[in-house]
Amino acid sequence: MIKFPKDFIWGSATSSYQIEGAAREGGRAWSIWDAHAHTPGRTHKDETGDIGCDHYHRYKEDVKLMADLGLKAYRFSISWSRIQPDGQGEVNREGIEFYSNLIDELLTHNIKPWITLYHWDLPLALQTEKDGWLNPEIADFFEKYAGICFKHFGDRVKNWITLNEPWVVAILGHGEGIFAPGRKSKSEPYQVAHQLLRAHGKAVSLYRQKYNPLQNGKIGITNNCDWREPLTNSEVDRDAAKRSLEFFIGWFADPIYFGDYPEVMKERVGDRLPRFTDEDKAMIKGSSDFFGLNHYTGLYASDVDENSDVQNEVYGNGGLFEDQYVQLTADPDWKMTTMNWAIIPWGCRKLLEWISNRYNNPPIFITENGCALDDQLIDGSVNDTVRKEYVEEYLKACHQAIQNGVNLKGYFVWSFMDNFEWALGYSKRFGIHYVDYETLERTPKNSALWYKETIKNNGF
Ligand code: GAL
Repeated sequence: MIKFPKDFIWGSATSSYQIEGAAREGGRAWSIWDAHAHTPGRTHKDETGDIGCDHYHRYKEDVKLMADLGLKAYRFSISWSRIQPDGQGEVNREGIEFYSNLIDELLTHNIKPWITLYHWDLPLALQTEKDGWLNPEIADFFEKYAGICFKHFGDRVKNWITLNEPWVVAILGHGEGIFAPGRKSKSEPYQVAHQLLRAHGKAVSLYRQKYNPLQNGKIGITNNCDWREPLTNSEVDRDAAKRSLEFFIGWFADPIYFGDYPEVMKERVGDRLPRFTDEDKAMIKGSSDFFGLNHYTGLYASDVDENSDVQNEVYGNGGLFEDQYVQLTADPDWKMTTMNWAIIPWGCRKLLEWISNRYNNPPIFITENGCALDDQLIDGSVNDTVRKEYVEEYLKACHQAIQNGVNLKGYFVWSFMDNFEWALGYSKRFGIHYVDYETLERTPKNSALWYKETIKNNGF
């Protein structure tokens, strides 16, 4: 039997716009995701997070389900527009109260709250009036908002994540335009990423200077990255895989661990890549107490000759192709989730080892990992053997990584419940609890029971 370290954190994760609902209640104003989802054609069947899983009203019931599962930690995000409806100024008391009650409910059940301050739902007013993440001022707005959260919740919350997956905000939100705010550009992703890093840095400085001395918690950032396996053993393909990883995770992690963007990005992106001031470098370097990683899948990477006219046959998503010239492909034999994400647990181990080597063995938390399937509810349960196997195999890969010296400290399965999957709406099922969107009933899936056993035995 595999045993994880005694202090390993077993958790599950969600995000505000995906589960809360109550979009027009409790003093909340719209976020860019409300606007995006309410724009015809942007989401599957024009579905929105208006109701989500109705978690805003049913949080007590949900916390009870978490307790039944044996979760030790629960990662959720705060909707900035519940706290500051306009993104600046006035604090909305009802918003503070909601999260405060949720935190208390979790603590009563012995579940540690892990808060993400930003999971993509920017207050709409900051987009329409201030150009959102393109505006350098955003870092100051974010710092203020973060300060409100530290002030009101930091007495009870000891684990903070500033941003969830800034890569997605940059590439899917401002490069491809398939996520809010729906912009398509070849240069905005780099500008936006720069401001996201500055905002993260500012929030961390504030926490460390003003709140941490009294509150004694940890703060970090969560980045996402897929694994890149060289298609062949040739030097050019090995370089292509490395380049692809540097454009993915190095983009955000290098400034935090080394103080600047990867060289290969500076060379290839040129003037479209903003430069850090010395002050920003000093603020951002060393600004994460742990390495938060969301990881699901991977692809083969191979080099593309820059003089050829081959365009990336986009199988997965690697960011801006013309800056990288990396072809991404899947092996036809790989099993896929319904999001077309390859199930390759060995990629998880390799990525953990890659991160560990590159960034000098930081403490790592997998803050998301899981498997989307079109589940069928039969006689009140879902026979989700594929999901069970997915999580089991990825956890084995995590365990191997630990054996090989990786400092992996915890694992949060995505997701605690089926939820609103952004542009895919409610079409894909994610959680360890099945949610019937007609009745909003929650039914545990079989893998939830299995996860319960795993947590109980601290291994499997
Ligand atoms: C992550 C994201 C989650 C969820 C997940 C896949 O990129 O942080 O919100 O969308 O992918 O289900």
